[in-house]
Amino acid sequence: MAPGPDGQRLDRIFFTGSGSESVETALKIALAYQRAIGQGTRTRLIGRERGYHGVGFGGISVGGILNNRRVFPTLNGTDHLRHTHDLSRNAFVRGQPEHGADLADDLERLVALHGAETIAACIVEPVAGSTGVLIPPKGYLERLREICTRHGILLIFDEVITGFGRLGAPFATDFFGVTPDLVAAAKGLTNGVIPMGAVFASRPVHDAVVQGPDGLIELFHGYTYSGHPVASAAGIASLEIYEEEGLLTRAADLSDDWATVMHGLRSAPHVIDIRTIGLIAGIELSPRAGAPGARAYDVFTDCFARGLLVRVTGDIIALSPPLVIERTQIESAAATLAAALDRVA
Ligand SMILES: Cc1ncc(COP(=O)(O)O)c(C=O)c1O
Repeated sequence: MAPGPDGQRLDRIFFTGSGSESVETALKIALAYQRAIGQGTRTRLIGRERGYHGVGFGGISVGGILNNRRVFPTLNGTDHLRHTHDLSRNAFVRGQPEHGADLADDLERLVALHGAETIAACIVEPVAGSTGVLIPPKGYLERLREICTRHGILLIFDEVITGFGRLGAPFATDFFGVTPDLVAAAKGLTNGVIPMGAVFASRPVHDAVVQGPDGLIELFHGYTYSGHPVASAAGIASLEIYEEEGLLTRAADLSDDWATVMHGLRSAPHVIDIRTIGLIAGIELSPRAGAPGARAYDVFTDCFARGLLVRVTGDIIALSPPLVIERTQIESAAATLAAALDRVA
């Protein structure tokens, strides 16, 4: 079930202990790959505004969240694509928005600015999660893939949220039909109950890095807890249950109902956008004057007191329910949210 189509499956795996470790690992594999193929000048790493890639120094450097970067030094030689969020053109969309594929061309701008020969990799979340459910515009990921290929830049998908069934396919890579060179994952690998992450590499990336005489270390990177036995047992058990209960594709059956129920909140007070894909929704609220984030936080506390755990990020409510959720539970979650939105000032 590794990401990618037959023949191009990213089925060479490096185990880690978390999403952050997966991101650091993927970035380092990209650098090692470029050097291994004689492209050692390629050391630059490109991320995207409003991206979240965990809390390691690599992750915060390619990440695009000011507060995660402000206090800490970041890596030299990184840059960022523009984000794709555009409410003026794409409000209240079910699935992928129509407008914004051209934003992928921002990578061409960075190539023109820095030179392709300095860029090792570009990392994006296929659907940005932590900065409020930003769904890729139609054609955007395809274009990013095409530009990366043309310039010898590795494409990394951070699937820490989207991996393992969140969109209705095992990975966002499969859902969108766009195959990167590396995928960083974690969370769903063990159903989030035991720390474990994984980096999935394509055969060409793996084979270029893992060469040389047997018995020598090819990649000077690894963790004590890579492939930890307890985590591996939890991972195997989770994968068996995903398979037995069809959970990696269950979101595909639920996503229409999910979208209909969530978009039903459209006329609730303060709501300026609702966006849905797979089993994810973002509900964006207008900020309270002088207190950004306060309104969504009040919705969070109101919902929590009534038994519904939602996530808020700024003034965006982000929903990402368990894959076993039932239709009636989707409806009751929406009803709790609607009541909270009615009550909040
Ligand atoms: C897209 C993405 N990447 C990386 C991470 C970091 O994962 P962890 O918290 O396991 O280090 C997260 C965590 O939410 C994430 O959403």
